[in-house]
Amino acid sequence: MKTSEMDDAVIQKYRPMEGKPVSFSRAEMTEVVLPNDTNVLGNVLGGRVMHLIDIACAIAAHRHSNSYVVTASVDYLDFRSPIRVGELIILKSSVNRVFNTSMEVGVKVFSENVLTGERRHTSSAYLTFVAIDENREARKIAPLILETAEDRRRFREAGERRKIRLAHRYKRRPQHRKA
Ligand SMILES: CC(C)(COP(=O)(O)OP(=O)(O)OC[C@H]1O[C@@H](n2cnc3c(N)ncnc32)[C@H](O)[C@@H]1OP(=O)(O)O)[C@@H](O)C(=O)NCCC(=O)NCCS
Repeated sequence: MKTSEMDDAVIQKYRPMEGKPVSFSRAEMTEVVLPNDTNVLGNVLGGRVMHLIDIACAIAAHRHSNSYVVTASVDYLDFRSPIRVGELIILKSSVNRVFNTSMEVGVKVFSENVLTGERRHTSSAYLTFVAIDENREARKIAPLILETAEDRRRFREAGERRKIRLAHRYKRRPQHRKA
């Protein structure tokens, strides 16, 4: 079987509303940090990293849900060490938990020095995506199949984070209430 036929076979195996394992939608993105992405010190801009985080997580969310998705929230994000111009930036994302119409996706960001091979973990983040149908309404997402102890740990922890996140979420004022 050719590679493209094998890929088709894997994709065909999982229908949109059937459960899919975490490994099915896991994504990895690698880019080289170019001068245009950096500040005057030659370090990558935080906003550039945030953009890549959003994209890397959205890929996993799209793959899992076979749907349009919007970013509903981004949890706390810190930048542990700078990523320098000329280094690689590597982002690994996977779906941690599906709720109903939303899912939490986790991402780890690494820098890699191409001359020494040294790799550093520079950021982690948790993003929530909502699946959207053709009418721009939130739609139900297929369940996540947990295969490993790591999958189960992330699933459990995502439940704890959701409680905190929803407690802090922006709440719309009812339409009839005056400002
Ligand atoms: C995210 C969005 C769809 C939620 O719409 P809403 O009508 O307030 O949402 P609902 O109360 O119906 O909830 C829909 C789902 O979103 C989740 N959700 C809503 N706000 C959330 C938040 N701040 N953090 C995490 N999840 C959130 C809800 O828990 C629910 O998930 P569930 O079905 O799995 O329980 C809406 O606020 C939106 O479209 N925001 C803009 C998204 C966007 O454009 N992002 C790109 C950057 S601007």
